[in-house]
Amino acid sequence: MIPEQFIQELLNRVDVVDVVDKSVPLKKAGANYSACCPFHNEKSPSFTVSPTKQFYHCFGCGAHGTAISFLMEYNGLSFVEAIHDLAKQVGMIVPQETHNPDKPAKQVIVGLQEALQQAAVYYKAELKKSPRAIEYLKGRGLSGQIAAKFQIGYAPAGWQNLQTVFPHYDNEVLVTAGLVVENEQGKRYDRFRDRIMFPIHNQKGEVIGFGGRVINPEDTPKYYNSPETPVFQKGHELYGLFVARRAIRDASRVLVVEGYMDVVALAQYGIDYAVAALGTATTPIHITKLMRQTDEIVFSFDGDNAGRTAAWRAAMNALPALTDGLKLRFMFLPTSHDPDSYVREFGKEKFEAEMQNAMPLSQYIIQHLSEHNPLHSDEDRITFLKEAEPILSQIKAPMLALMMRKKIAELAQVTGEEMQRHLKLPKPGKAPMKATQRQSRSPMSLKKQFILMALMRPDLVTLQDIALVQGTTAEDQLLIELFDACLASPNSKPSALLHTIKSADATTLMEVARELHLLPENVDFALEFVGLRTQLSEGMQQLKETQLLNQIKEKPISALTTEERELLRKLGIK
Ligand code: GTP
Ligand code: MN
Repeated sequence: MIPEQFIQELLNRVDVVDVVDKSVPLKKAGANYSACCPFHNEKSPSFTVSPTKQFYHCFGCGAHGTAISFLMEYNGLSFVEAIHDLAKQVGMIVPQETHNPDKPAKQVIVGLQEALQQAAVYYKAELKKSPRAIEYLKGRGLSGQIAAKFQIGYAPAGWQNLQTVFPHYDNEVLVTAGLVVENEQGKRYDRFRDRIMFPIHNQKGEVIGFGGRVINPEDTPKYYNSPETPVFQKGHELYGLFVARRAIRDASRVLVVEGYMDVVALAQYGIDYAVAALGTATTPIHITKLMRQTDEIVFSFDGDNAGRTAAWRAAMNALPALTDGLKLRFMFLPTSHDPDSYVREFGKEKFEAEMQNAMPLSQYIIQHLSEHNPLHSDEDRITFLKEAEPILSQIKAPMLALMMRKKIAELAQVTGEEMQRHLKLPKPGKAPMKATQRQSRSPMSLKKQFILMALMRPDLVTLQDIALVQGTTAEDQLLIELFDACLASPNSKPSALLHTIKSADATTLMEVARELHLLPENVDFALEFVGLRTQLSEGMQQLKETQLLNQIKEKPISALTTEERELLRKLGIK
């Protein structure tokens, strides 16, 4: 943990007005400064920054906080990243985070990150020594500069090259990091051999994994990726996000593609705001992560069938994350192209012009649903409505939901009211789900808060905590599963724990992941945890008493048990 005292001193030294003004130009308005709020859409400014109180506040959406929370919210930084960022601005050095010697798991993870970093440095140096690998990259049109920008490397052929980097080749960390594989006979060898290496960075720029591509076209598999490890979860990370972060802000949009080579080739041609999902479908967590950087997301997948399937899956996964302020569009390339080949053949201008024409999500959904459905007969239109139902019910953005419903009803030749009556859809115009809306910050439920604190302090969870939930709602299910995970591995990181949850639906998981990123600073997680446990347990006690009371009401006094009489006395009822 970073010492509290340091954080206070840092906040004393920075001026929140300067910090905000860098991203959101401020105007003086009396004693304060104001601007249109960057956290929700508005035409007249209700966002103010107070130089004396050193915080910002929006009267429109309620967003408020210090310089630290501004960096977290606006730039999508974690708490620690924001501290480092601010410290750099005022020339302060962040004291080393202290490690608790009682938590060996954390030590392993520390070693893990270092091992990956060292391996990346090694692979990069090896690239310089391999004319064959350099030739390959040049042949794909990449300059040395771009290779360096993405820290591309080369893992030489041979079984145990990493021994030169890690004299303790038998160290468990190398296996955990996914750098070394152990076969059934216990023999160890390098996972990546004779491959072009693409390091994968987290948002802090730390290496967390690799993708390795073959050079010989006949070798298989074409790509070999790091396995999931405590620091690398494919459903959370996006290749190229760290490198592209600034460009995404400058362009006010992000381009999501399928492959490592697409990201790198686009950057080579000056489209430097692209990222790729790591050989998995784009998840709601990916979308949420990107939404924290920009309000415009364009997907450009390969023109083949696989690419089209991936596009549809991305669209479906995005539904729970949609907001009315988000522009999500799909760019469909000709069948024989991927973004890499397209930009190479037609160049940046044409690519960006095509991007301008990309299809909005709403249009894409309708087009997809009516693609093989002529909507000629009543039966056609029923199929259409049935297929639209699960999609419509996931869209929480109020305006978008309204527009989509109108359009679908029109195509199905029913009125909006008829459709509403026959499909299982949430009431239109209902307030949007809290956490999926960037602008709203309504208070979280106790259980959700408890979920967050359990993720932060899994070591505090005990077997008794399971009695705090009854196991009916999605939150309850999540809590029960989370408790299991916490009890099994009390030293895990929040993201690793979240990743083990299987029962919860995407929306719930996404909300939790999102709130996790937005946790306010200066929180004593242990204290919060214990406080919430008490509140929940009191709530549970009350619930039980009410249930019991309802049962008692049915009985004649003579039939009451001692426990029931005791309860009546306690509640002041005789
Ligand atoms: P190039 O063929 O070099 O142009 O690579 P690409 O990045 O364009 O890859 P492609 O479009 O074929 O695949 C998209 C992404 O899917 C890759 O970047 C990988 O993340 C993943 N992928 C592709 N092939 C494999 C494979 O054989 N195994 C695994 N695990 N992942 C793959
Ligand atoms: Mn390709």
